[in-house]
Amino acid sequence: MAKINAAMVERLNAQLGRELAASQQYLAIAVYLRGRSLENFAGFYFRQVDEERNHAMRILRYLLEVGAKPIVPQLDAPSTDFSSLTEVVKLSLGYEEAVTAAIHELVDAASDGKDYATFQFLQWYVAEQIEEEATFSKLLDIIEMSDNVLQVEAYVSQMSVAKAGE
Ligand code: FEO
Repeated sequence: MAKINAAMVERLNAQLGRELAASQQYLAIAVYLRGRSLENFAGFYFRQVDEERNHAMRILRYLLEVGAKPIVPQLDAPSTDFSSLTEVVKLSLGYEEAVTAAIHELVDAASDGKDYATFQFLQWYVAEQIEEEATFSKLLDIIEMSDNVLQVEAYVSQMSVAKAGE
């Protein structure tokens, strides 16, 4: 018998699917950027693929821990064709904003249902989404200000160095 209710299990499984879908989408973007020889930018997205998978795995492990059944979902095919870097980053930021909204709904549901364990579990995601949205917002600012793709490559490279030093 699961320690959290069936509705919450369903909600968490839906979030598991969203995280895996984000991972797939970022993988498609990384491949697109690599195909245009934007090595640093592609590298940034390849790291995001792993981050999103980690977000999914945290949920999967939590579900197992509370005796619930994780569902490995069938995913829609990601977008693979883009006309600009701006489009790529806008799509990503939109994804993150949707994930943030979904996490906040989960927090509301946990709070309303007095599911304190899940409420606590979700706090990590609340904080993570602040960072994720900030990262893509900054990236979008840089891309919109720069008319030189090499400047964008240099910026993403700096981001990687900064992140490695955290
Ligand atoms: Fe796991 Fe970037 O949302």
